[in-house]
Amino acid sequence: MDKENITIDTSRFQEISISYLKKLSGDKLLTFDVLDQNGNTVFSAGQALNDEILKKKSEEGVKFFIPRVTETIGVYDREIIDMKKLKAIADDTATMYTDIRKTGRMSYDQFLQSNNQLAAIVDSLRAEDKTGGVLSLLKEIKEFDFITYTHSVNVGVLAMILVYKELSTGDKVKLAALAGYLHDIGKLRVDQSIIQKPGLLSYEEYKKVIEHTREGYRILDSVVDFTGKKVVPNIIKYVALFHHRKLQSPGYPFREDDKDKSREAQYNELPDLARIMGICDMYDALTTATPFRMPMSVEKALRYILNLSNYLYSTDDVHRFIKVLGLSLNKGNPFLRTGDFVMLESEKVSLDTRKKIRVYEIARIEDISRINFLNPRVMIFYDVVRNKKLNNITVDLRYDTSRRIVRVFESTRIKEMLLRQLK
Ligand SMILES: [Fe+2]
Ligand SMILES: [Fe+2]
Repeated sequence: MDKENITIDTSRFQEISISYLKKLSGDKLLTFDVLDQNGNTVFSAGQALNDEILKKKSEEGVKFFIPRVTETIGVYDREIIDMKKLKAIADDTATMYTDIRKTGRMSYDQFLQSNNQLAAIVDSLRAEDKTGGVLSLLKEIKEFDFITYTHSVNVGVLAMILVYKELSTGDKVKLAALAGYLHDIGKLRVDQSIIQKPGLLSYEEYKKVIEHTREGYRILDSVVDFTGKKVVPNIIKYVALFHHRKLQSPGYPFREDDKDKSREAQYNELPDLARIMGICDMYDALTTATPFRMPMSVEKALRYILNLSNYLYSTDDVHRFIKVLGLSLNKGNPFLRTGDFVMLESEKVSLDTRKKIRVYEIARIEDISRINFLNPRVMIFYDVVRNKKLNNITVDLRYDTSRRIVRVFESTRIKEMLLRQLK
């Protein structure tokens, strides 16, 4: 090969033979870009390879390059997705949703159908998952045009992978997927002009939107088999009903004020799957582009979600989501870094009241490992509750599991202020 004719950065891209690429063609979607020797894109991620174009380009003297697999790129970029399967699921979903929108009801057959669609994904997940790279499904599904539907599919896939990675049984995985897939089904009973309205909603419109949770429950609760028996598992209905409940802010459907029960106790009474689905829902909303908002990068979205610990979501749930999915979603890279200022949360028993109290401290990340990125070595220097500078203490959170990171500070002004405290 004539080295002079190559201007692409070969430290980042490697040449790949046409015979290798031919193996990837067919009903598959690429999960990486294929570039020529000048760095121009020949095929983009999300496209299918075309043999004819490949041949033509090769005859014109085009060399093919793909990103080198390095630690920062991750192994997932090499994967190819079975397009036929995904396309079929997306098509079926679109048809089914149109029908439900027309009638305002979901039939037993439609419920079974969605069950089968998800079963197909779960089966392929079990068969293909070697690296956890199935997460690229999320990106691929987004390439389809069905904007209104893809959110549900995304949330379903996200919840499914989360539960799957926790080594749950197949039934549990399927239930999580199905619950995610159907969580916003109630939106089909909200006026389309409101759901698709750009910009802010009036209070009246907002009141209608929040009804999608109760409507979702009603739709799912009314699915019966031919003997009249209700068939949708309760947990799926509860996910539809409760996925917008929050820890410190009420969320919706609005809860009654219960003087005997703290907000936290009420939140923790929600089914596990409904709470975690709320985070999957938030993650997909943050990372999806809408006509009115640019998507957040994965890294930014994960930092944003971490900052919702003990606020919109419990610290347990946020850490569960991040621990299981954080690295895979961010292509193997930790989203926290050495030098980040963080807030730590821990519990201790008050000497006066004998009650458990929460302690908050500020620290700087000193050293972080990829696998244990949620438990770095930190230097603690400020007590937030007592508003007091501490003598700097170095703590390795891998061994001190009583302390957990609940905030990472983003604002430059705050970071400068903290830096002054540290000196
Ligand atoms: Fe929702
Ligand atoms: Fe949603």
